[in-house]
Amino acid sequence: MSIQIPRGTQDILPGEVEKWQYVEEVAKSLCHNYQYKEIRTPIFEASELFTRGVGDTTDIVQKEMYMFEDQGGRSLALRPEGTASVVRSFVGNKMFGYPNQPTKLFYSGPMFRYERPQAGRYRQFVQFGVEALGSEDPAIDAEVISLAMGIYKELGLTQLKLVINSLGDADSRNAHREALINHFKPSIDEFCGDCQNRLEKNPLRILDCKKDRDHELMGTAPSILDYLNDESKNYFEKVQTHLSDMDVEFVVDPTLVRGLDYYNHTAFEIMSEAEGFGAITTLCGGGRYNGLVQMIGGPETPGIGFAFSIERLLSALEAEGIELPIEHGVECFIVSLGKEAKDYSVKLLHTLRAAGISSEKDYLDRKVKGQFKAADRYDAKYVAVIGDNELQENKINLKNMSTGEQEEISLDHFVEKMKNKLGK
Ligand code: HAM
Repeated sequence: MSIQIPRGTQDILPGEVEKWQYVEEVAKSLCHNYQYKEIRTPIFEASELFTRGVGDTTDIVQKEMYMFEDQGGRSLALRPEGTASVVRSFVGNKMFGYPNQPTKLFYSGPMFRYERPQAGRYRQFVQFGVEALGSEDPAIDAEVISLAMGIYKELGLTQLKLVINSLGDADSRNAHREALINHFKPSIDEFCGDCQNRLEKNPLRILDCKKDRDHELMGTAPSILDYLNDESKNYFEKVQTHLSDMDVEFVVDPTLVRGLDYYNHTAFEIMSEAEGFGAITTLCGGGRYNGLVQMIGGPETPGIGFAFSIERLLSALEAEGIELPIEHGVECFIVSLGKEAKDYSVKLLHTLRAAGISSEKDYLDRKVKGQFKAADRYDAKYVAVIGDNELQENKINLKNMSTGEQEEISLDHFVEKMKNKLGK
């Protein structure tokens, strides 16, 4: 019996992988404009990093972590997200001491969550994310949000909705927490076991429950925005002013609760409003996490970031009917005729490639007709035909496959001419 790919994972095959490369390039290039530098962290970490960082009452930690013990008896977890790892690295490498502050980082790589697979939800998915550590200026919040929106816009997405909220500072959150407990407590036995456990530990999580989301008390739950103290309110207003100044459109949604515990102040999500996108509409999520660095053993340092999955980004592009400008074709395909020309084509191919021209030839001893068909399958821009006779006369026949034009070129000038034609 053949071995199946694990549930919730996928192979990204040639033909599809170019889209991944393209969107990652666009995201990286925008990060460069915004001066975020790449960081690469391990795919597994001490489990404790996430139980402490992401929060032990979250679904991610309670139900979705891939945990294992290594041969040395250490409890490790495949990373379910990137923020905790980046913060661990920030602390471990004392990046807070680097001359350039805030520390602005981006990452891209696989994350793992044991979730029920469905459209847009995988057990292994690739997140692209950024984190800015060391500044509590609302302008950084606006910068991070505008970078996320900028990446989507650059790729051509238009049917987007940016939702923002404030979770306030510790005082505001405590006041809201008390109000939530009072709100849910009298009817808590109508809620699921998870919510009952969360009531005292972390009542905000109840608002995030997938099972009880239709309970009438959900809609009437006290809004965090009514519990923000003046400082938190001013902060949130300043973020909104900056976003408006940047012409980044948003709506404030006081019910936006993120699924991770480390957030305070600004929280945001970007949704796709494209028809047919599917049930899970969130493309990107992020927010501020001013206590996380300290929780992970570093000095008190504010932070903010976001992450989105490439999987959902590509689905959104598809739902909006956006074709990425990806060049699949080969620039020059060599067709050879005769034994000597066939041998010569090996050398010529090497020369073309060394000159930066993407080139291919036949390796299956096809007849000329078969070689032309192969060139078509490669979507070749040019086909260079060389036979034993041409070789003796030191020339090659070049066909432009889009115009059908043909010309004879001296072999001595062939590579130079090809470079000119291709604008290289
Ligand atoms: P998150 O909301 O858990 O936040 O995930 C962020 C994004 O990852 C989602 O909006 C979605 O695009 C993608 N995603 C999550 N789970 C899956 C899945 N099972 N399949 C496909 N895509 C998925 C975080 O992870 C935070 N670390 C974001 C952040 C960075 N906050 C501050 N800095």
